[in-house]
Amino acid sequence: MEFKTGQLTTSWGAPVGDNQHSMTAGSRGPTLIQDVHLLEKLAHFNRERVPERVVHAKGAGAHGYFEVTQDVSSYTKADFLSEVGKRTPVFVRFSTVAGELGSADTVRDPRGFAVKFYTEEGNYDLVGNNTPVFFIRDAIKFPDFIHTQKRHPQTHLKNPNAVWDFWSLSPESLHQVSILMSDRGIPATLRHMHGYGSHTFKWVNADGQAVWVKYHFKTEQGVKNLDVELAAKLAGDNPDYHIEDLYNAIDQANFPSWKLYVQIMPIEDANTYRFDPFDVTKVWSQKDYPLIEVGRMVLDRNPENYFAEVEQATFSPGAFVPGIEASPDKMLQGRLFAYADAHRYRVGTNHNTLPINKPVAQVNNNQRDGQMRYDRNGGNSVYYEPNSYGGATESAASRTSSFEVSGSAGSAPYDNNDHYTQPGNLYRLLSAEERGRLIKNIVNAMIPVEKDEIKQRQIAHFYKADPEWGNAVAEGLGLRVTELA
Ligand code: HEM
Repeated sequence: MEFKTGQLTTSWGAPVGDNQHSMTAGSRGPTLIQDVHLLEKLAHFNRERVPERVVHAKGAGAHGYFEVTQDVSSYTKADFLSEVGKRTPVFVRFSTVAGELGSADTVRDPRGFAVKFYTEEGNYDLVGNNTPVFFIRDAIKFPDFIHTQKRHPQTHLKNPNAVWDFWSLSPESLHQVSILMSDRGIPATLRHMHGYGSHTFKWVNADGQAVWVKYHFKTEQGVKNLDVELAAKLAGDNPDYHIEDLYNAIDQANFPSWKLYVQIMPIEDANTYRFDPFDVTKVWSQKDYPLIEVGRMVLDRNPENYFAEVEQATFSPGAFVPGIEASPDKMLQGRLFAYADAHRYRVGTNHNTLPINKPVAQVNNNQRDGQMRYDRNGGNSVYYEPNSYGGATESAASRTSSFEVSGSAGSAPYDNNDHYTQPGNLYRLLSAEERGRLIKNIVNAMIPVEKDEIKQRQIAHFYKADPEWGNAVAEGLGLRVTELA
């Protein structure tokens, strides 16, 4: 039967005769189980929710493109970066970290900055934040850290004791805490913030030569942040302020854009640099490794359907393309497992076949079946490898580069515990007004902490970064500076 536009149907495509009145025995009921349209409608509604992301649940997404503006082919063989002028479609999702799907946008929190490049050699996902560093540097600490950011199991309230207890006992967090408590902790909009890959990655060129790389997206709108009082008001008046702003800007053809830069470190420098360059709590000096321009990203199309695109999008730090590889960063290594695992649970084992995640490159693998396999499931093609039937074959040119490892296996700590130099330098770079606001934000966030022991431990970290900073926070909290010793 030819489908009539506008005709309401059941999920099995049959025309619906009545969508206003359930079938009843007599005009007053009871309702008949025979009304299969009613049963299907209620049952499907019950299943509309999928689990929200365990972190970064609230987000906004947009489509656009990335265009190469400088030749970086001497550093990487990645096809989408191979020539100036080459354009690659992208989908970007920005997010807060700790809040739930319906939480307010204008809160103090890092922002997720996840980019999916639909390259001709497969999808490349750069799953970063708007900060160049992170709170911890070993994946084994991540679930504990996130527990402190989420709700208390008994009260279901946010818990400042847990937040500051964990941070004060994990001094590697100081750098990220400093950025979070500074003006940058609440961006004015999603358009007015930078993005960072944060981790160190590896680029490999066509000759097999490798370099270490860090990514920086610089906003072309300029960095703008929200005043604390205005942010609090907006969180109440318009909790969706950031997703609305992004949608409206793109809708009005005011397309946001970012320039992409990289820092490149020769492979051998990693052995002699003054700290471990794979430690995600630290930034590389731009004097040592200056920014090199790569390209420009423009977001010019809103999603048509929030659930199908923004919610079902799955970004994985392990989605690499030839020419881009992992570094030994212990956080990144844990993330290589965590995301794809979350996707199988949250969206399903065949999540990469959904339109938003489907590569533009042809997918030729031997994965078959699984829940919600709605495409051709490989049809009647060869379904194992090696084979004698002309099936897809591996390509040696795309083999991951080999690298040296050394030392004994074990649960090893990082060899550098200087958590203070970089946050101290950041503090000293701030103007007097910026320092004042940083200290006020910290004091206000720490006032609800019950135990002085926790406050003093944290103050000691600020003090070690810069005595003026520690003294000011202590004073704001009414604690004696002498107690810092
Ligand atoms: C989302 C785990 C560290 C940025 C997620 C999700 C998980 C996760 C499970 C939800 C994924 C989903 O359901 O689709 C972890 C673990 C980490 C870690 C185990 C440390 C070992 C980081 C770091 C960054 C980051 C260091 C940034 C540099 C993001 C972003 C998202 C996300 C942007 C949201 C992606 C989206 O928009 O779909 N993380 N994360 N995470 N994470 Fe992480």
